[in-house]
Amino acid sequence: MDQELINKIRENTDIVEFISKYIPLVKKGKNYFGLCPFHNDNNPSLSVSREKQIYKCFVCGEAGNVFNFIQKYENVSYKEAIKIVGDSIGISIGYDIKKVVDKNQIYYDIYDIANKFYQNNLFSSEGLEARNYLEKRKLDLETIKEFQIGLSLDKKDSLYNLLVKKGYDIEILEKSGLINFDHDIYTNRIIFPLFNQNGKINGFSGRIYHGENTNKYLNTRETAIFKKGENLFNYDRAKEEARKKKYVIIMEGFMACIRAYTIGIKNCIATMGTALTIDQVNLIKRLTNTVYLCFDGDNAGINATLNNGKILLENNLKVKVISLTDNLDPDDFIIKYGKDKFYSLLENPLNYEDFKIRRLKNGVNFHSSEELSNYINLVLKEISQVKDAIKREIMLKNLAEETNVWYNTLEKKLNELLSEKKLVSSNKNILLPKKEKKDKYERTLQILIYYMLTRKGTITLVENSNVYFPIDSYRQLFLEISDYYNKYGSISIADFSTYLEEKGEFKDIFKEIISLDLDNNVSNDIILDYLKVIDNYNVSLEIKRLENLIMNEVDPLEQAKISNQIWKLKMGSEKS
Ligand code: UTP
Ligand code: MN
Repeated sequence: MDQELINKIRENTDIVEFISKYIPLVKKGKNYFGLCPFHNDNNPSLSVSREKQIYKCFVCGEAGNVFNFIQKYENVSYKEAIKIVGDSIGISIGYDIKKVVDKNQIYYDIYDIANKFYQNNLFSSEGLEARNYLEKRKLDLETIKEFQIGLSLDKKDSLYNLLVKKGYDIEILEKSGLINFDHDIYTNRIIFPLFNQNGKINGFSGRIYHGENTNKYLNTRETAIFKKGENLFNYDRAKEEARKKKYVIIMEGFMACIRAYTIGIKNCIATMGTALTIDQVNLIKRLTNTVYLCFDGDNAGINATLNNGKILLENNLKVKVISLTDNLDPDDFIIKYGKDKFYSLLENPLNYEDFKIRRLKNGVNFHSSEELSNYINLVLKEISQVKDAIKREIMLKNLAEETNVWYNTLEKKLNELLSEKKLVSSNKNILLPKKEKKDKYERTLQILIYYMLTRKGTITLVENSNVYFPIDSYRQLFLEISDYYNKYGSISIADFSTYLEEKGEFKDIFKEIISLDLDNNVSNDIILDYLKVIDNYNVSLEIKRLENLIMNEVDPLEQAKISNQIWKLKMGSEKS
């Protein structure tokens, strides 16, 4: 590919703005920080530098330029990554992404065929009753089309026959999760397609719509393309809006999520009735760090709110709660009270902690000192989990007021809890593996290469010094840099990163070098000192080699010669 065009794309893309489209970033000092999408990150450890146009993660060590980021994030080839970035700023690289052949493509094809089939059924004469049901549930045509709702017929093998006619293997059909032996899994149900994070259909949920004594919803079993714990209903559709609004709403059921969509709430996803998994939490983190939980108003919904809220908080997300009255779910609530009422709830979400405390208070007899002190201890424990000191103080004040217990007493107890917590977390740190310490000389080589890429004049200094890089990979890297610089007349970390990517070499050491993040404002003398360190190291290696030679030498005259050489080397390095 044309290196200059690639550099042009990179130069015209601001890495901070680009990554912001995928991960929320916050400015701290001169860099921007966000949750790293490449490991299960709890503290923002991804740092993005506008100045250097690179990113790096302090924890997992991922690092690179804007192309590396999107390559890793979208799991595409380097060329595709360049195309994506190019497209985002309107520069076409004239490279056609050959459709990556997904080994599971056959299943996606089957789901697409099934989906079209189900959608057609709904509007056939056999779909009348189902259409009436949807109408009764206030799902209009537009919504039906938007969510591609369909219908499986009251026949045991209509989809099976269609797929066999299209030439699919029985074995593949079985594996698809839609066919069992020679009959359809879905019969006589309203079909809601499920989409993966890229918008491909990878499963269905089928709802009964007239008096049948069976499961209300039937979900696709786990297949090669459908993993329940990795899917979130409506994720693909809600992505952009959630990033824009800076929060995402999570509901329990997908009907509620569809309802929210009909009143213009498009940053909403659904868990489909199970507790959030770590994979789902990581998907959410890609959108925003604030989550509104809007679960059903019944006891099950309250418990689900508490459980999922805990999981989200543990993963350092901000959690707010929309609590519904009368045991209603969001779908029923919106139908009963209307759009405006729901919007006003959204404007005043409860903090998760306040929601939890409200639950703790339920049924407590404030006249019983036993119950009251139990309640206070539980609330204090909650408050101790809150990270923001101001929030803690407000909560403590409220507790003092409501229970008539002296503020200072509560505060003392809270501080006890807080110091216990600190102890536990500092013990945790000890268990973390220590980062491997780099050899001093290897580190020096890395520093020199870092400066060659970031500090004007360094390349010439290093070239003129004639210092030999004693480690093969670094020596080669040095030569690459030197060649690149002499060819293009300038160099930057971000561009050189692209160049190396094309070559497919030095990836690991280059990541380490990028991560050094040194101050460029150093004098030539400092660079020369680093070169001296390497030079002395070379001398010591040579001395070692000669000493070995002496041991194996039998001729005393030769021994004397070598010994003299060693002496000269030692004198030479002492002088300097
Ligand atoms: P709900 O029972 O709250 O369903 O289950 P709902 O959203 O209110 O649906 P309607 O209004 O009765 O049609 C919440 C979620 O739990 C899953 C579904 O994903 C549903 O959206 N669920 C429920 C099942 O998977 N199977 C079931 O039998 C029931
Ligand atoms: Mn419902």
